[in-house]
Amino acid sequence: MEKVRIAILCSGGGTNFQAVCNAQEAGLLPDGEVVLLICDHAGAFVLKRAERMGIPAVVIDRREMKDRAAREQKIIGTLKEYRVGLVVLAGFMSILSPAFVKEYENRILNIHPALLPAFGGEGFYGLHVHEAVLKAGVKVTGATVHYVTAACDGGPIIAQKAVEVKEGDTPETLQKRVMREAEWVIFPEAIQTVCKKIRGEK
Ligand code: GAR
Repeated sequence: MEKVRIAILCSGGGTNFQAVCNAQEAGLLPDGEVVLLICDHAGAFVLKRAERMGIPAVVIDRREMKDRAAREQKIIGTLKEYRVGLVVLAGFMSILSPAFVKEYENRILNIHPALLPAFGGEGFYGLHVHEAVLKAGVKVTGATVHYVTAACDGGPIIAQKAVEVKEGDTPETLQKRVMREAEWVIFPEAIQTVCKKIRGEK
């Protein structure tokens, strides 16, 4: 039976995209295959990574196509064209509409750089999350992989990993530690787990 065809959606640097591609190259994603990158920001560094990894990339630029419904229609059309079975949000900074989420019910995963339900929801993305963590003074943070539902950052949790907050951390140092110790580890593992489950259902 065919492997689950994965599309990764990303807006920026793409270190999580890279981690998933590296896992695939290392044979750690036996039930899935990354077949597509969709990026909503022309010029994002992730596009260079995709080129280097030989993954087809499609840009659907937010600044050019301002209407979210039109943008999502284009994304869905592209996902269909590539016969995608699992959509993976890896630093994708647009919130998907309920209609989009319904179209790919139980087939969209997201990585969030904190231990949800803490430090999640609208406005909590990228460095802002780590700023909020430091401001709150918590001593443990981490990362969460979850299914995407219409509730922002509220879908069922698949995997989490805790990371220590250290004295003197800045949002940047904390972000780097959360990525290295948690995100790049649990994301490829969770994607493999879900791909295996999807294949088992067929
Ligand atoms: C990652 O830390 C990811 O968890 C976060 O954006 C970063 C993207 O980095 N996602 C969110 O904040 C989603 N709410 P990357 O492009 O290097 O993978």
